[in-house]
Amino acid sequence: MARPLTTRFIAGLTLADAVRVASELKRSEMLASLDYLGENVTTLEEAAAAREAYLAAIRTVYPLHASVSMKVTALGLDISEEACRANTDALVRLACDTGTRVELDMEDSTYTDRNLKIVHEMHEKHGGGVRAVIQAYLYRSEQDIIDLCEHGIPVRLCKGAYKEAPSVAFPKKADVDANFLKLTDLLLERGSYPAIATHDDAMLNHALAFVRERHIRADRFEFQMLYGVRRDLQQRVIKEGYRLRLYVPYGAAWYPYFMRRLAERPANVLFLAKSLFK
Ligand code: FDA
Repeated sequence: MARPLTTRFIAGLTLADAVRVASELKRSEMLASLDYLGENVTTLEEAAAAREAYLAAIRTVYPLHASVSMKVTALGLDISEEACRANTDALVRLACDTGTRVELDMEDSTYTDRNLKIVHEMHEKHGGGVRAVIQAYLYRSEQDIIDLCEHGIPVRLCKGAYKEAPSVAFPKKADVDANFLKLTDLLLERGSYPAIATHDDAMLNHALAFVRERHIRADRFEFQMLYGVRRDLQQRVIKEGYRLRLYVPYGAAWYPYFMRRLAERPANVLFLAKSLFK
């Protein structure tokens, strides 16, 4: 039933679908980051299957300069930190060998410390090959960015997509937006090839004004957006001569990802409801 909307946000069920999308994006001068859908696996076998799916993805898409985006809970963090570290290590090793990068998506705040610990360990061990994700809605994010920048670890900045308590995250959207702007400046100034991930015109305009004012070269950072969201803005970024990477999810475990996209924008629920009645 959800097919009309899921196909807008999700490349398809297989790696071949994701590769097709990544190739199309390349022709339109956009980069991709492939996300093999899945999270919170409950067995080591599922975690190993996710690792193998990612290894196959890296081997296939590195010629397109695509990265992969993974979740630590898809690679087994809920079962064993050791197993998750070993699975992530296999991905980062191959990413370094093939000249690409593993981006560690950030999940809810109960995982932040453990996720960042693995990012730091991988960066130190392999001398690169990873990107951290920081959520502007968390109070702690400024300090996390300072630590990551000091270690030369690339960061993707996003607003944050999980339900968080006011004790850890700004409850008001205006405060999240203000923090996003502040962290954007920090990253563009001190970061190592940062990624500004947003579909918000105000956030994008601010970043563009900042880089122009400071004469920051277009190859020193990138914008990131989600596959299927704000295609108009995607075109604008490319036309203005900046780098854009689209986050391209694929695979059968689409439900939690899809629900987060619905939650971000009530109009999506309306669109889904209309398509069900057609
Ligand atoms: P905002 O929510 O203010 O939206 C601005 C405008 O964008 C809206 O008015 C609408 O036009 C459009 N828009 C936004 N979301 C839409 C949607 N779902 N459907 C249709 N239109 C939409 N989060 C996280 O917690 N951990 C992570 O690892 C990541 N990773 C990540 C990677 C990339 C590349 C992106 C772009 C985003 C993420 N996110 C994420 C999600 C992020 O935290 C956030 O929830 C969404 O990007 C929405 O925030 P915006 O910055 O787009 O602004």
